[in-house]
Amino acid sequence: MIRTQGLTRHFVVKKETVEAVRGLDLAVQRGELVALLGPNGAGKSTTVRMLTTLIPPTAGSAHVAGFDVVRNQGEVRRRIGYIGQGNGAGHQQVGRDELTSQGRAYGMGRKAARARADELISALDLAGVADRKVATLSGGQRRRLDIAMGLIHAPALLFLDEPSTGLDPQNRANLQDQIVKLRAEYGTTIVLTTHYLDEADSMAERVIVVDHGRVIADDTPARLKAEHAGDRISLACGSDDDARRASARIGAFDGVDAEHGRDRVHVRAVNGPELLPELLRRLDADGIRVIRAELARPTLDDVFLNLTGRSLREGGAEPAEPEPPATSTAATTRQNQEITA
Ligand SMILES: Nc1ncnc2c1ncn2[C@@H]1O[C@H](COP(=O)(O)OP(=O)(O)OP(=O)(O)O)[C@@H](O)[C@H]1O
Ligand SMILES: [Mg+2]
Repeated sequence: MIRTQGLTRHFVVKKETVEAVRGLDLAVQRGELVALLGPNGAGKSTTVRMLTTLIPPTAGSAHVAGFDVVRNQGEVRRRIGYIGQGNGAGHQQVGRDELTSQGRAYGMGRKAARARADELISALDLAGVADRKVATLSGGQRRRLDIAMGLIHAPALLFLDEPSTGLDPQNRANLQDQIVKLRAEYGTTIVLTTHYLDEADSMAERVIVVDHGRVIADDTPARLKAEHAGDRISLACGSDDDARRASARIGAFDGVDAEHGRDRVHVRAVNGPELLPELLRRLDADGIRVIRAELARPTLDDVFLNLTGRSLREGGAEPAEPEPPATSTAATTRQNQEITA
């Protein structure tokens, strides 16, 4: 559905060149739900705006639904839906009419546009609000209406630029459910941008991490976390000596790193939930006393932190945390392959 080669976009602001997108190579297959994840200014919206033909690339090429975004703008536009970063709908019309007009604008007949609007009103849980003026809707209701607007002409491909930004957690969860449902029902290919890590993690089959206009990682959330972060286990032992012995014992496991400090052992591995009980059994058999065990699973923020030294959480501007205990990458990678084989 999408293929780009060296997709690039510069902006010139007061004679300074801003390299918003720098040579992006992307491929999205039909039916995929892909998230573009990155901090403020990473180039997510600029990428989406090029793919939706709103701005031309400075260099490189992009094909969307089989058509070139520069040479075949019209063909691309007919096949896509786009919901921008701001609220699209904002008029004095009622939601239902807004939807129908949007359908008409895409060349649908009045009857077909009405029928489709009704279908989406029910699918997106807008029954109670579609007959109210758009201006009176809450942020969450309006965002759901925006999604319906993007879907009115049943596009094969839908772009959502930060669909849930500004929504409260409950509305965000609702909207995420709706997007996943729509996708299941209509088989729509969806590309969304977000800086909500949990959103990318739970919804997307594939996460493309963008930073400074480049793709720095592209994989399933599970594989990104296994490859670039891993699980952390922390054990509090009965004594400093127990911790030292435990660390040596655990470090001998394949694909596992351990280091100790005082009476604690810090372990990194990719299979924490399976490893932890096994470790405890072995240590117990060796007479090593463990008083407390904690398991922390990685988030996509750990992935971003490991890749860039910055956190995504607050706009990516946070200083890097101290390096985690050294990882034997080769062993970790080997184990990943076993898990995903
Ligand atoms: N029209 C424009 N003119 C000048 N610079 C622009 C323009 N649009 C974007 N930029 C710059 O390009 C870079 C990428 O912006 P973009 O909006 O694509 O980022 P983003 O990843 O969508 O960020 P956010 O998460 O804040 O929405 C930024 O440095 C931005 O200031
Ligand atoms: Mg943006």
